[in-house]
Amino acid sequence: MPARISRRSAIKLAGAGAALAAVDLGAAAGALAAPASGPLAGAFQAGRYTLPKLPYVYDALEPAYEARALRIHHTAHHAGYVRGLNAADDALAAARKAGDYKNIKAMSRALAFHGSGHVLHTLLWRSMTPGGSKMPPELARAMAESFGSVEACQAQFAAAAKAVEGSGWAVLAWEPLADRLIVLQAEKHQNLTVWGVTVLLVCDVWEHAYYLQYANRRADWVAAFMTLANWPFAADRLAAARKPPRG
Ligand SMILES: [Fe+2]
Repeated sequence: MPARISRRSAIKLAGAGAALAAVDLGAAAGALAAPASGPLAGAFQAGRYTLPKLPYVYDALEPAYEARALRIHHTAHHAGYVRGLNAADDALAAARKAGDYKNIKAMSRALAFHGSGHVLHTLLWRSMTPGGSKMPPELARAMAESFGSVEACQAQFAAAAKAVEGSGWAVLAWEPLADRLIVLQAEKHQNLTVWGVTVLLVCDVWEHAYYLQYANRRADWVAAFMTLANWPFAADRLAAARKPPRG
């Protein structure tokens, strides 16, 4: 087990929700130093996955996202994924110890479901910021290169979010082969993902994210989300993903 993993590797491991289905998070995380600061701080501490604090108070996103809806989303739904991920981790550790993998499909499914839920919700809280944000020039350049314009990128992101079949996510991601940005739809958490992507910005379109406030008007929630989008956060993640590894 490597004693040190580069910051870049840590970010990519923790941020690549797409890769969670095949990565034993327990083993991988055990080799990582939990980030003390930054967007992933508080999501893994003392060898266990933990519920990170929000980077703002519960009413900070109002009126676009009400405190009541945000509090339940964070303390009930996200917390449930954290519990499920630790349970999946424990079950896999016990299976390894016993050499008994008869339930590997169910355990792997639980790991992917709860692991992706934990990663994506950790990113979601940073994907919104009170009052919205200005587009950083370096991210605007990357969007223009990949989509033709900032507006085209935003329109594709919102269209993808609105059209996710059932529950899921819209994901703005950096695709490393062509070094470009792409927009993905993630059905549930773990389906229709691209291996190795680094998630830059996410919009939760599970009903629990918006139903208390917007009922069945998902499009209104997506429009509200777009007014809250934290583009500097996405730019920081893009810069971190593109940085050459240390040493
Ligand atoms: Fe959610």
